Amino acid sequence: MSDLSYKLDDKVFVVTGGSRGIGLEIARLLLQQNARVVICGRKQPGLDAAESELKAGSDRFLAVPAHIGKAEDVDNLFNQTLSKFGQLDGLINNVGMNIITSVLDAEPSLWQKIIDSNLTGTFLCSQKAGRIMREKKKGKIVSISSIAARRSAPAMGIYGIAKAGIEMMTKVLAMELAAFNIQVNAVAPCMVKTDFSKFFWSNEDIHNEIVKTVPLGRIPDPIDIAHPTLFLCSEGADFMTGQTILVDGGASAI
Ligand SMILES: NC(=O)c1ccc[n+]([C@@H]2O[C@H](COP(=O)([O-])OP(=O)(O)OC[C@H]3O[C@@H](n4cnc5c(N)ncnc54)[C@H](OP(=O)(O)O)[C@@H]3O)[C@@H](O)[C@H]2O)c1
Repeated sequence: MSDLSYKLDDKVFVVTGGSRGIGLEIARLLLQQNARVVICGRKQPGLDAAESELKAGSDRFLAVPAHIGKAEDVDNLFNQTLSKFGQLDGLINNVGMNIITSVLDAEPSLWQKIIDSNLTGTFLCSQKAGRIMREKKKGKIVSISSIAARRSAPAMGIYGIAKAGIEMMTKVLAMELAAFNIQVNAVAPCMVKTDFSKFFWSNEDIHNEIVKTVPLGRIPDPIDIAHPTLFLCSEGADFMTGQTILVDGGASAI
């Protein structure tokens, strides 16, 4: 699949949570397509590791420490993007986190933490990027949701509620930004082989049970999610907006 062309030469994309997992793969694919990429994450060592792995020149790549649930960090992320590259063509809201809890047992502070990192962070970044991109009447916003947005799963309740909010935000922003030629879409994966879900897929019994629910017969790698995301960032998706694409190996078709 590596010779697919999305025609993203010199476009500037912010990928939140680009230091590992799906975000790192999206950043890698964007760089392979000659785009310029800004990633963020909370921890500097993770950003440093991503920078050395991606081997991108400093003229094409920037890593900014930022917690996307904090407005001042988000302001700094986009200010640094504009001061280095002078433009913004797209945002990939990739950050997601979960803390295992039932809704009934969650303290309000735990609820807030999960909502902030998933839903509020996506709101803050989308608002900032939308305001920048509407000036030139062109742009893309793609958010990474999850099948947890539409199927309740034990221990992923608040996370699923936040992801459902992200899918509705996708529709709302798609309408608000349509007049500015900005397309807003989302990708909802099933379980993917990253650190996020390693506890589950690294257990052979659980792995085999999950695979039985996926018609395509495997748990996807980050690249399987990165390609549909890049399509939504490309001109090929110029007439799509407000949509969430399920990338689940056919699981939801059963
Ligand atoms: N893996 C799966 O099974 C799966 C399935 C469905 C959907 N998804 C979704 O796919 C997206 C990517 O997940 P992943 O599996 O690649 O996760 P991951 O491997 O845990 O990576 C998460 C990335 O986000 C960063 N991050 C976490 N919280 C942050 C915050 N508050 N502010 C800024 N950066 C933050 C992390 O860096 P720091 O730790 O340094 O902040 C890291 O770069 C998420 O939205 C997730 O919900 C994943």
